[in-house]
Amino acid sequence: MRKTTLITGGAGYIGSHTALALINAGRHVLVLDNLCNSCRECIKRLEQLTLTRVDFIKGDIRDSRLLDDIFSRYDVEAVVHFASLKSVAESVSNPLDYYTNNVAGTLDLCRAMARNNVFKLVFSSSATVYGEPTRTPIAEDFGTGKPVNPYGRTKLMIEELLSDLCHSDPRWSIALLRYFNPIGAHESGMIGEDPTGRPNNLLPCLTQVAIGRIPELTVFGSDYPTVDGTCVRDYIHVVDLAIGHLKALLKLQQTSGIDVWNLGTGVGYSVLQIIHSFEDITGIAIPYRFAPRRPGDIAKCFADPGKAKRELGWTAQRDLRQMIIDAWRWQSCNPQGYQSSFKIAALSAVR
Ligand code: NAD
Ligand code: WQD
Repeated sequence: MRKTTLITGGAGYIGSHTALALINAGRHVLVLDNLCNSCRECIKRLEQLTLTRVDFIKGDIRDSRLLDDIFSRYDVEAVVHFASLKSVAESVSNPLDYYTNNVAGTLDLCRAMARNNVFKLVFSSSATVYGEPTRTPIAEDFGTGKPVNPYGRTKLMIEELLSDLCHSDPRWSIALLRYFNPIGAHESGMIGEDPTGRPNNLLPCLTQVAIGRIPELTVFGSDYPTVDGTCVRDYIHVVDLAIGHLKALLKLQQTSGIDVWNLGTGVGYSVLQIIHSFEDITGIAIPYRFAPRRPGDIAKCFADPGKAKRELGWTAQRDLRQMIIDAWRWQSCNPQGYQSSFKIAALSAVR
Protein backbone atom coordinates (compact mmCIF):
# COMPACT_ATOMS: atom_id res chain seq x y z
CA MET A 1 0.00 0.00 0.00
CA ARG A 2 1.21 3.49 -0.81
CA LYS A 3 1.73 5.88 2.07
CA THR A 4 -1.19 8.30 2.08
CA THR A 5 -1.86 11.73 3.51
CA LEU A 6 -5.49 12.05 4.57
CA ILE A 7 -6.83 15.56 3.93
CA THR A 8 -10.04 16.31 5.81
CA GLY A 9 -11.93 19.20 4.21
CA GLY A 10 -9.78 18.75 1.12
CA ALA A 11 -12.51 19.87 -1.29
CA GLY A 12 -12.59 23.29 0.37
CA TYR A 13 -10.65 26.42 -0.44
CA ILE A 14 -7.35 25.87 1.38
CA GLY A 15 -7.64 22.07 1.44
CA SER A 16 -7.90 21.81 -2.36
CA HIS A 17 -4.81 23.99 -2.87
CA THR A 18 -2.96 21.87 -0.32
CA ALA A 19 -4.07 18.66 -2.02
CA LEU A 20 -2.65 20.03 -5.27
CA ALA A 21 0.65 21.02 -3.61
CA LEU A 22 1.02 17.58 -2.03
CA ILE A 23 0.21 15.72 -5.25
CA ASN A 24 2.66 17.92 -7.14
CA ALA A 25 5.27 17.04 -4.52
CA GLY A 26 4.74 13.35 -5.30
CA ARG A 27 2.53 12.44 -2.34
CA HIS A 28 -0.54 10.27 -2.50
CA VAL A 29 -3.55 11.99 -0.95
CA LEU A 30 -7.01 10.93 0.09
CA VAL A 31 -9.61 13.68 0.42
CA LEU A 32 -12.40 13.25 2.97
CA ASP A 33 -15.05 15.96 2.82
CA ASN A 34 -18.78 16.00 3.55
CA LEU A 35 -19.22 18.77 0.92
CA CYS A 36 -21.17 20.98 3.34
CA ASN A 37 -19.25 23.96 1.99
CA SER A 38 -17.74 22.63 -1.23
CA CYS A 39 -18.55 20.44 -4.22
CA ARG A 40 -17.34 17.51 -6.30
CA GLU A 41 -16.48 19.81 -9.19
CA CYS A 42 -13.44 20.92 -7.18
CA ILE A 43 -12.16 17.35 -7.13
CA LYS A 44 -12.78 17.07 -10.88
CA ARG A 45 -10.74 20.23 -11.41
CA LEU A 46 -7.92 18.83 -9.24
CA GLU A 47 -7.91 15.74 -11.46
CA GLN A 48 -7.72 17.90 -14.58
CA LEU A 49 -4.85 19.89 -13.08
CA THR A 50 -2.83 16.89 -11.89
CA LEU A 51 -3.76 14.45 -14.68
CA THR A 52 -4.30 11.82 -11.97
CA ARG A 53 -7.27 10.30 -10.22
CA VAL A 54 -7.77 12.00 -6.88
CA ASP A 55 -9.05 9.61 -4.21
CA PHE A 56 -12.12 11.23 -2.70
CA ILE A 57 -14.60 10.04 -0.09
CA LYS A 58 -17.74 11.98 0.65
CA GLY A 59 -18.13 11.67 4.39
CA ASP A 60 -17.96 13.28 7.77
CA ILE A 61 -15.09 13.40 10.26
CA ARG A 62 -17.63 12.55 12.97
CA ASP A 63 -18.45 9.21 11.32
CA SER A 64 -16.19 6.90 13.36
CA ARG A 65 -17.07 3.79 11.40
CA LEU A 66 -16.15 5.48 8.15
CA LEU A 67 -12.86 6.69 9.62
CA ASP A 68 -11.95 3.18 10.81
CA ASP A 69 -12.76 1.89 7.35
CA ILE A 70 -10.52 4.54 5.76
CA PHE A 71 -7.63 3.77 8.10
CA SER A 72 -7.95 0.07 7.39
CA ARG A 73 -8.01 0.52 3.62
CA TYR A 74 -5.24 3.14 3.30
CA ASP A 75 -1.77 3.33 4.80
CA VAL A 76 -2.31 6.80 6.28
CA GLU A 77 0.94 8.30 7.55
CA ALA A 78 -0.42 11.75 8.44
CA VAL A 79 -3.63 13.75 8.53
CA VAL A 80 -3.99 17.36 7.43
CA HIS A 81 -7.14 18.54 9.14
CA PHE A 82 -9.03 21.38 7.43
CA ALA A 83 -12.61 20.18 7.95
CA SER A 84 -14.42 22.86 9.89
CA LEU A 85 -17.22 25.37 9.72
CA LYS A 86 -15.69 28.82 9.34
CA SER A 87 -18.25 31.61 9.24
CA VAL A 88 -17.78 34.00 12.14
CA ALA A 89 -21.33 35.38 11.83
CA GLU A 90 -22.92 31.92 11.62
CA SER A 91 -20.94 30.79 14.66
CA VAL A 92 -22.56 33.59 16.67
CA SER A 93 -26.10 32.64 15.58
CA ASN A 94 -25.52 28.90 15.69
CA PRO A 95 -22.76 28.09 18.19
CA LEU A 96 -23.84 24.48 18.80
CA ASP A 97 -23.15 23.54 15.20
CA TYR A 98 -19.70 25.07 15.48
CA TYR A 99 -18.74 23.36 18.73
CA THR A 100 -20.16 20.06 17.48
CA ASN A 101 -18.61 20.11 14.04
CA ASN A 102 -15.27 21.70 14.87
CA VAL A 103 -14.46 20.61 18.43
CA ALA A 104 -16.34 17.31 18.73
CA GLY A 105 -15.42 16.50 15.12
CA THR A 106 -11.73 16.93 15.91
CA LEU A 107 -12.10 14.69 18.98
CA ASP A 108 -13.72 12.00 16.83
CA LEU A 109 -10.93 12.31 14.29
CA CYS A 110 -8.19 12.08 16.93
CA ARG A 111 -9.84 9.07 18.57
CA ALA A 112 -10.00 7.30 15.23
CA MET A 113 -6.37 8.20 14.51
CA ALA A 114 -5.22 6.82 17.87
CA ARG A 115 -7.27 3.62 17.41
CA ASN A 116 -5.54 3.12 14.11
CA ASN A 117 -2.01 4.11 15.20
CA VAL A 118 -1.81 7.30 13.18
CA PHE A 119 -0.25 10.08 15.24
CA LYS A 120 0.85 12.81 12.85
CA LEU A 121 -1.53 15.72 12.47
CA VAL A 122 -1.40 19.17 10.89
CA PHE A 123 -4.18 21.40 12.17
CA SER A 124 -5.66 24.53 10.52
CA SER A 125 -5.67 27.10 13.23
CA SER A 126 -6.09 30.82 12.85
CA ALA A 127 -4.65 34.14 13.93
CA THR A 128 -8.01 34.61 15.59
CA VAL A 129 -6.63 32.68 18.62
CA TYR A 130 -4.47 35.71 19.47
CA GLY A 131 -7.61 37.73 20.22
CA GLU A 132 -6.84 41.47 20.35
CA PRO A 133 -3.03 41.67 20.19
CA THR A 134 -1.29 44.30 22.33
CA ARG A 135 1.26 44.88 19.57
CA THR A 136 2.19 43.85 16.04
CA PRO A 137 3.75 41.94 14.37
CA ILE A 138 2.31 38.98 16.25
CA ALA A 139 4.75 36.23 17.22
CA GLU A 140 3.80 32.77 18.44
CA ASP A 141 5.29 33.42 21.89
CA PHE A 142 2.81 36.23 22.58
CA GLY A 143 0.53 33.44 23.80
CA THR A 144 -3.11 33.16 22.91
CA GLY A 145 -5.70 35.76 23.80
CA LYS A 146 -9.46 35.77 24.02
CA PRO A 147 -11.07 35.08 20.64
CA VAL A 148 -14.13 37.28 20.26
CA ASN A 149 -16.55 34.80 18.67
CA PRO A 150 -17.53 31.12 18.94
CA TYR A 151 -15.67 30.23 15.73
CA GLY A 152 -12.44 31.59 17.19
CA ARG A 153 -13.11 29.84 20.47
CA THR A 154 -13.47 26.49 18.68
CA LYS A 155 -9.99 27.02 17.21
CA LEU A 156 -8.51 27.84 20.60
CA MET A 157 -10.26 24.88 22.26
CA ILE A 158 -8.94 22.54 19.59
CA GLU A 159 -5.39 23.88 20.02
CA GLU A 160 -5.69 23.24 23.76
CA LEU A 161 -7.15 19.77 23.41
CA LEU A 162 -4.44 18.82 20.91
CA SER A 163 -1.83 20.10 23.33
CA ASP A 164 -3.29 17.99 26.16
CA LEU A 165 -3.36 14.99 23.85
CA CYS A 166 0.29 15.43 22.90
CA HIS A 167 1.36 15.75 26.50
CA SER A 168 -0.55 12.58 27.40
CA ASP A 169 1.10 10.40 24.78
CA PRO A 170 4.55 10.91 23.23
CA ARG A 171 3.56 9.16 20.02
CA TRP A 172 1.67 12.24 18.86
CA SER A 173 3.33 14.75 16.58
CA ILE A 174 1.18 17.79 15.86
CA ALA A 175 1.68 21.04 13.95
CA LEU A 176 -0.66 23.93 14.69
CA LEU A 177 -0.61 26.35 11.76
CA ARG A 178 -2.06 29.77 12.49
CA TYR A 179 -3.14 31.29 9.21
CA PHE A 180 -3.51 35.01 8.79
CA ASN A 181 -5.78 36.09 5.86
CA PRO A 182 -5.63 33.60 2.97
CA ILE A 183 -6.60 35.03 -0.41
CA GLY A 184 -5.85 34.38 -4.08
CA ALA A 185 -6.15 31.18 -6.05
CA HIS A 186 -4.09 28.72 -8.03
CA GLU A 187 -2.55 30.44 -11.07
CA SER A 188 -4.50 28.17 -13.46
CA GLY A 189 -7.76 29.84 -12.42
CA MET A 190 -9.27 26.35 -12.07
CA ILE A 191 -9.56 26.17 -8.28
CA GLY A 192 -10.28 28.97 -5.84
CA GLU A 193 -12.51 30.26 -3.09
CA ASP A 194 -16.20 29.64 -3.70
CA PRO A 195 -18.21 30.93 -0.75
CA THR A 196 -21.79 29.76 -0.39
CA GLY A 197 -24.25 32.66 -0.33
CA ARG A 198 -23.03 36.17 0.33
CA PRO A 199 -19.36 36.16 1.26
CA ASN A 200 -18.11 37.58 4.57
CA ASN A 201 -14.44 38.02 3.77
CA LEU A 202 -13.01 41.04 2.02
CA LEU A 203 -11.48 39.53 -1.11
CA PRO A 204 -14.44 37.46 -2.27
CA CYS A 205 -16.71 40.47 -1.63
CA LEU A 206 -14.39 42.65 -3.68
CA THR A 207 -14.11 40.26 -6.64
CA GLN A 208 -17.89 39.70 -6.58
CA VAL A 209 -18.42 43.46 -6.79
CA ALA A 210 -15.95 43.56 -9.70
CA ILE A 211 -17.80 40.76 -11.54
CA GLY A 212 -21.20 42.38 -10.88
CA ARG A 213 -22.65 39.87 -8.41
CA ILE A 214 -22.69 42.46 -5.59
CA PRO A 215 -23.54 46.10 -6.35
CA GLU A 216 -21.03 47.76 -4.01
CA LEU A 217 -18.49 46.99 -1.33
CA THR A 218 -19.17 47.96 2.26
CA VAL A 219 -16.06 49.12 4.12
CA PHE A 220 -16.52 48.50 7.82
CA GLY A 221 -15.09 51.38 9.82
CA SER A 222 -13.05 54.42 8.81
CA ASP A 223 -11.79 55.56 12.21
CA TYR A 224 -9.34 52.85 13.24
CA PRO A 225 -5.90 53.99 14.40
CA THR A 226 -4.25 52.85 11.16
CA VAL A 227 -2.64 54.45 8.12
CA ASP A 228 -6.00 55.48 6.59
CA GLY A 229 -8.59 54.59 9.24
CA THR A 230 -9.42 51.13 7.85
CA CYS A 231 -8.32 47.79 9.33
CA VAL A 232 -4.96 46.30 8.48
CA ARG A 233 -4.51 42.59 7.78
CA ASP A 234 -1.78 40.20 6.67
CA TYR A 235 -3.07 38.74 3.38
CA ILE A 236 -1.33 35.56 2.31
CA HIS A 237 -1.52 33.77 -1.03
CA VAL A 238 -3.33 30.44 -0.65
CA VAL A 239 -0.65 28.65 -2.71
CA ASP A 240 2.05 29.85 -0.28
CA LEU A 241 -0.16 28.67 2.55
CA ALA A 242 -0.54 25.27 0.88
CA ILE A 243 3.23 24.92 0.61
CA GLY A 244 3.45 25.72 4.33
CA HIS A 245 1.50 22.50 4.98
CA LEU A 246 3.97 20.48 2.96
CA LYS A 247 6.81 21.96 5.03
CA ALA A 248 4.93 21.19 8.26
CA LEU A 249 4.44 17.56 7.17
CA LEU A 250 8.18 17.27 6.52
CA LYS A 251 8.85 18.69 9.98
CA LEU A 252 6.52 16.14 11.60
CA GLN A 253 8.59 13.35 10.08
CA GLN A 254 11.55 14.49 12.20
CA THR A 255 9.90 15.54 15.47
CA SER A 256 7.35 14.60 18.06
CA GLY A 257 5.28 16.73 20.41
CA ILE A 258 3.30 19.79 19.48
CA ASP A 259 4.44 23.10 18.03
CA VAL A 260 2.88 26.15 16.48
CA TRP A 261 3.77 28.32 13.50
CA ASN A 262 2.29 31.50 12.08
CA LEU A 263 1.71 31.42 8.34
CA GLY A 264 1.61 35.01 7.16
CA THR A 265 3.75 37.38 5.12
CA GLY A 266 4.62 39.85 7.88
CA VAL A 267 3.18 42.71 5.81
CA GLY A 268 -0.10 44.43 6.60
CA TYR A 269 -2.43 46.19 4.15
CA SER A 270 -5.47 48.30 4.96
CA VAL A 271 -8.88 47.71 3.40
CA LEU A 272 -8.51 50.86 1.28
CA GLN A 273 -5.03 49.80 0.14
CA ILE A 274 -6.50 46.48 -1.00
CA ILE A 275 -9.32 48.19 -2.90
CA HIS A 276 -6.98 50.66 -4.60
CA SER A 277 -4.43 47.96 -5.48
CA PHE A 278 -7.22 45.89 -7.02
CA GLU A 279 -8.36 48.90 -9.06
CA ASP A 280 -4.81 49.68 -10.22
CA ILE A 281 -4.05 46.08 -11.19
CA THR A 282 -7.33 45.25 -12.95
CA GLY A 283 -8.42 48.70 -14.16
CA ILE A 284 -11.86 48.03 -12.67
CA ALA A 285 -13.40 50.73 -10.46
CA ILE A 286 -14.84 49.36 -7.21
CA PRO A 287 -17.85 51.25 -5.88
CA TYR A 288 -17.69 51.27 -2.09
CA ARG A 289 -19.23 53.04 0.87
CA PHE A 290 -18.22 53.31 4.49
CA ALA A 291 -20.35 51.70 7.21
CA PRO A 292 -19.88 51.51 10.98
CA ARG A 293 -17.23 49.19 12.40
CA ARG A 294 -18.05 45.47 12.20
CA PRO A 295 -18.35 44.01 15.72
CA GLY A 296 -15.28 41.99 16.70
CA ASP A 297 -12.90 43.51 14.13
CA ILE A 298 -9.51 44.52 15.46
CA ALA A 299 -7.53 47.43 14.03
CA LYS A 300 -4.30 45.72 13.06
CA CYS A 301 -3.28 42.11 12.68
CA PHE A 302 -0.15 40.91 10.96
CA ALA A 303 2.31 38.12 11.58
CA ASP A 304 5.87 37.76 12.59
CA PRO A 305 6.54 34.82 10.25
CA GLY A 306 10.15 34.35 11.45
CA LYS A 307 9.58 31.09 13.30
CA ALA A 308 8.21 29.35 10.21
CA LYS A 309 11.20 30.61 8.24
CA ARG A 310 13.72 29.40 10.82
CA GLU A 311 12.12 26.07 11.67
CA LEU A 312 10.14 25.02 8.59
CA GLY A 313 12.24 26.73 5.94
CA TRP A 314 9.05 28.42 4.74
CA THR A 315 8.43 31.99 3.63
CA ALA A 316 5.63 33.43 1.55
CA GLN A 317 6.85 34.02 -2.02
CA ARG A 318 3.87 35.74 -3.63
CA ASP A 319 3.21 39.44 -3.18
CA LEU A 320 -0.07 41.34 -3.04
CA ARG A 321 -0.07 41.95 -6.79
CA GLN A 322 0.12 38.20 -7.45
CA MET A 323 -2.62 37.54 -4.90
CA ILE A 324 -4.93 40.02 -6.60
CA ILE A 325 -4.16 38.83 -10.13
CA ASP A 326 -4.83 35.22 -9.14
CA ALA A 327 -7.99 36.04 -7.15
CA TRP A 328 -9.33 37.98 -10.11
CA ARG A 329 -8.39 35.28 -12.62
CA TRP A 330 -10.32 32.73 -10.57
CA GLN A 331 -13.37 34.98 -10.24
CA SER A 332 -13.41 36.08 -13.87
CA CYS A 333 -12.89 32.54 -15.22
CA ASN A 334 -15.62 31.26 -12.85
CA PRO A 335 -18.16 34.05 -12.33
CA GLN A 336 -20.44 31.67 -10.39
CA GLY A 337 -17.63 29.74 -8.72
CA TYR A 338 -17.60 26.00 -9.38
CA GLN A 339 -21.09 26.22 -10.89
CA SER A 340 -19.56 28.02 -13.87
CA SER A 341 -18.27 26.02 -16.77
CA PHE A 342 -14.62 26.98 -16.69
CA LYS A 343 -13.76 29.51 -19.35
CA ILE A 344 -10.49 31.24 -19.97
CA ALA A 345 -11.47 34.84 -19.36
CA ALA A 346 -9.63 37.63 -21.12
CA LEU A 347 -7.36 39.11 -18.52
CA SER A 348 -6.55 42.04 -20.74
CA ALA A 349 -7.67 44.36 -17.98
CA VAL A 350 -4.78 43.27 -15.77
CA ARG A 351 -2.16 45.95 -16.05
P1 NAD B 1 -13.76 25.74 3.47
O1 NAD B 1 -15.11 25.86 4.05
O2 NAD B 1 -13.57 26.12 2.05
O3 NAD B 1 -13.20 24.25 3.66
C1 NAD B 1 -13.58 23.44 4.74
C2 NAD B 1 -14.04 22.12 4.16
O4 NAD B 1 -14.40 21.25 5.22
C3 NAD B 1 -15.28 22.25 3.28
O5 NAD B 1 -15.03 21.64 2.03
C4 NAD B 1 -16.38 21.52 4.04
O6 NAD B 1 -17.30 20.91 3.17
C5 NAD B 1 -15.57 20.53 4.86
N1 NAD B 1 -16.18 20.11 6.13
C6 NAD B 1 -16.72 20.90 7.10
N2 NAD B 1 -17.13 20.15 8.13
C7 NAD B 1 -16.86 18.85 7.80
C8 NAD B 1 -17.06 17.62 8.46
N3 NAD B 1 -17.65 17.55 9.64
N4 NAD B 1 -16.64 16.48 7.85
C9 NAD B 1 -16.05 16.54 6.63
N5 NAD B 1 -15.86 17.69 5.95
C10 NAD B 1 -16.25 18.82 6.53
O7 NAD B 1 -12.76 26.56 4.42
P2 NAD B 1 -11.26 27.00 4.16
O8 NAD B 1 -11.23 28.46 3.99
O9 NAD B 1 -10.64 26.12 3.15
O10 NAD B 1 -10.67 26.70 5.60
C11 NAD B 1 -9.99 25.48 5.86
C12 NAD B 1 -9.57 25.46 7.31
O11 NAD B 1 -8.75 26.60 7.59
C13 NAD B 1 -10.74 25.55 8.29
O12 NAD B 1 -10.42 24.75 9.40
C14 NAD B 1 -10.76 27.01 8.68
O13 NAD B 1 -11.32 27.18 9.95
C15 NAD B 1 -9.28 27.32 8.69
N6 NAD B 1 -8.97 28.74 8.48
C16 NAD B 1 -9.47 29.39 7.39
C17 NAD B 1 -9.18 30.74 7.19
C18 NAD B 1 -9.77 31.48 6.03
O14 NAD B 1 -9.80 32.72 6.07
N7 NAD B 1 -10.21 30.83 4.96
C19 NAD B 1 -8.35 31.40 8.10
C20 NAD B 1 -7.84 30.70 9.19
C21 NAD B 1 -8.14 29.36 9.37
C1 WQD C 1 -10.73 41.78 6.58
C2 WQD C 1 -11.00 43.27 6.74
C3 WQD C 1 -13.19 43.80 7.62
C4 WQD C 1 -15.57 42.45 4.27
C5 WQD C 1 -11.71 36.50 9.19
C6 WQD C 1 -11.97 35.71 10.44
C7 WQD C 1 -10.71 35.01 10.87
C8 WQD C 1 -10.11 34.20 9.72
C9 WQD C 1 -10.00 34.98 8.46
C10 WQD C 1 -10.78 31.94 9.77
C11 WQD C 1 -11.72 43.62 8.04
C12 WQD C 1 -13.02 44.32 6.21
C13 WQD C 1 -14.50 42.73 5.09
C14 WQD C 1 -16.30 43.52 3.70
C15 WQD C 1 -14.84 45.07 4.80
N1 WQD C 1 -10.93 33.09 9.37
N2 WQD C 1 -14.14 44.03 5.35
N3 WQD C 1 -15.91 44.80 3.98
O1 WQD C 1 -12.06 39.53 9.77
O2 WQD C 1 -9.56 39.63 9.31
O3 WQD C 1 -10.69 37.46 9.46
O4 WQD C 1 -11.25 35.63 8.16
O5 WQD C 1 -10.10 31.55 10.66
O6 WQD C 1 -11.05 34.20 11.96
O7 WQD C 1 -12.39 36.59 11.47
O8 WQD C 1 -11.09 38.86 7.50
O9 WQD C 1 -11.74 39.22 5.15
O10 WQD C 1 -13.54 39.19 6.92
O11 WQD C 1 -11.96 41.11 6.85
O12 WQD C 1 -14.55 46.25 5.05
O13 WQD C 1 -17.27 43.34 2.99
O14 WQD C 1 -11.90 43.67 5.68
O15 WQD C 1 -13.89 44.72 8.41
O16 WQD C 1 -11.23 44.84 8.47
P1 WQD C 1 -10.88 38.97 9.10
P2 WQD C 1 -12.15 39.53 6.54
